[in-house]
Amino acid sequence: MSDRYTKSRTLTEQSAKSIAGGAVLLDRRIDPPIVFVRALGNRLWDADGNEYTDFHAAFASHILGHNHPEVNAAVSKAMESGWSLMSSGATEWDMRLAELLRACVPSMERVQFTSSGNEAVAQAIRLSRAWTGRDDIIVTLGGYNGWNNDVAQAMMPDPETIGPRQNSGEYQFPQTSAGIPETVRNQVHVVNFNDVASVEEIMRRYPTACVITEPVLHNVGVIPPQPGYLTTLRKLCDQYGALLVFDEVKSGFRTTLAGYQSVVGIKPDLSVFGKTIANGYPLGVVGGRASVMALLDSPDPAWSVRLIGSYNAHPFTAAAAIATLEILQRDDIALYQRLEALGSRLQKGLELIFDELGVEATISRVGSAFCVYFCDHVPVDWHDLMSHHNFDLDRVYRRALIERGLYLFPQPCRQGSLSAAHTREDITRFIEASRAILKGFRNKSVAGK
Ligand SMILES: Cc1ncc(COP(=O)(O)O)c(C=O)c1O
Repeated sequence: MSDRYTKSRTLTEQSAKSIAGGAVLLDRRIDPPIVFVRALGNRLWDADGNEYTDFHAAFASHILGHNHPEVNAAVSKAMESGWSLMSSGATEWDMRLAELLRACVPSMERVQFTSSGNEAVAQAIRLSRAWTGRDDIIVTLGGYNGWNNDVAQAMMPDPETIGPRQNSGEYQFPQTSAGIPETVRNQVHVVNFNDVASVEEIMRRYPTACVITEPVLHNVGVIPPQPGYLTTLRKLCDQYGALLVFDEVKSGFRTTLAGYQSVVGIKPDLSVFGKTIANGYPLGVVGGRASVMALLDSPDPAWSVRLIGSYNAHPFTAAAAIATLEILQRDDIALYQRLEALGSRLQKGLELIFDELGVEATISRVGSAFCVYFCDHVPVDWHDLMSHHNFDLDRVYRRALIERGLYLFPQPCRQGSLSAAHTREDITRFIEASRAILKGFRNKSVAGK
């Protein structure tokens, strides 16, 4: 039998001899074991010479497409101009980047930089604890906010660990890793997305430092907030003296330049951004109320929060981020309108096919982020998703798309992402490929559960 991935398989096996687990970041391990060697714009190429249109965008990082010429040119220019890791005092590029971010996201009165979203989340939680003098935090079931002990919950927790839905209350912390102290787990309270009753119950029971949540639950695809959910979170935080932290690492610059918070008109106390900010270069940002951010410079050791990191806002990353934000700012309306038009075309095309073929499937979309759920509605939380989505069909669908040269991450419920590099033709191919795949499924009667 011919194998499209012969070289990829060999490289993957070789990799496992030196890299623990066989891939950098075990979450990247995939089946089929494709090894990508090159990317440009909306295209990927693997070691066997196969070409793909990319809808994965490195877990939603590339809003402008891979290796965007202007972003790369900005990085090269920074190198040629002598930008370097100074690790001493302020720099013009840090300043420029901070000014751009503040101009884009009004709730970020002050910002600070890290090298990843994970570190920025850790700082947001630490700031919340320092500000409130409390230890307990609330996180979202089925969410992902990085791998710090406080938030290291399983990406897709299994039903046995979680147990059935509760009317109001918390779920056992579904730890994704050994080595997380029990004391930490006990102070992290896990509730379903869109469940304000549980948030209020926890806040009544425990002095809560913060609620940290993605405003759109992207870790398990695209689960939008129910009307009123985020507004109520805001009110509860005010009422109980907790901080509201939006993790916009994925939702950030996907819908607008001002973050998803601007779409819903909610001002969080702190926000975390990453990924798209630098179009794939490594950067994390934490920002928010000036009074809270001032703790990073408090003269009182009892209040002072330390944020350190050798590579924070590395000059080449800063150059990439400045260029990305300038492009987004310059083209703001046109770019987001174009992404919305592409997204809407994809959504309508797929909805027609689901109807035409009688396949039980729904596409959920927020701006340039989308996910197909094989059930009759967009899930509202992890329990809804676990009990209604057809995971097997999702896996087969993604695999079949990949075989046709359309790359979605081959694990169920992973968000698909459009970028400025996509074209109407890419969308048409995606729709037509979906039609062919789902027709085949129906003929083989595997669309049912
Ligand atoms: C919502 C969210 N928060 C935080 C993180 C962690 O960011 P990073 O991988 O840059 O550390 C991620 C990464 O996927 C994420 O999706």
